[in-house]
Amino acid sequence: NNEEEKTEDYLFKIVLIGDSAVGKSNLLARFARDEFYPNSKSTIGVEFQTQKMDINGKEVKAQIWDTAGQERFRAVTSAYYRGAVGALLVYDISRRQTFDSIGRWLNELHSKNYRSHLCSHSDMNVVTILVGNKSDLKDAREVSTAEGKALAEAEGLFFMETSALDSSNVAAAFQTVVKEIY
Ligand code: GTP
Ligand code: MG
Repeated sequence: NNEEEKTEDYLFKIVLIGDSAVGKSNLLARFARDEFYPNSKSTIGVEFQTQKMDINGKEVKAQIWDTAGQERFRAVTSAYYRGAVGALLVYDISRRQTFDSIGRWLNELHSKNYRSHLCSHSDMNVVTILVGNKSDLKDAREVSTAEGKALAEAEGLFFMETSALDSSNVAAAFQTVVKEIY
């Protein structure tokens, strides 16, 4: 029926990716429920949440998928990426190692997405934002804002620094992706 078709039109699948403990699950918790967990456990498998968003006065729904950054807990097949139109690629500004992993995550996003685009052309372009999370940890910073920006520019990604702890830029990061898709 019409109602269902309408909803389908505005349901966007967004995936969260990045190393373990960069704050993927807390970005989602902050965005979807305005919650923060100081001692959250590693995600096991895959979880998702549907979040209503207002984009230019229209209601759209983002279905946000979250999985483990840790290899041994991941249940990531191409199914995780299939149909995704947006991605938040997250690192932790206080741990350089998580920034160094971004290239690997981009490769995975592109290769898995390539597989799914053999089935559907709509999967070809995934709007991606590079997210430097934990911007509240100013004294522990290991990756400068300029470095984040430069990598994003080189890879053709949006860029934002966020804090799931103090909420800064969390909604803005998700909105940047959904606006661009919509
Ligand atoms: P995996 O599920 O293992 O892939 O990890 P994750 O990326 O989902 O990380 P998670 O959200 O579980 O956060 C890991 C730790 O970082 C937790 O102790 C959080 O409380 C903390 N954390 C998350 N976001 C922030 C932030 O913006 N600032 C600070 N200071 N800590 C954060
Ligand atoms: Mg998690």
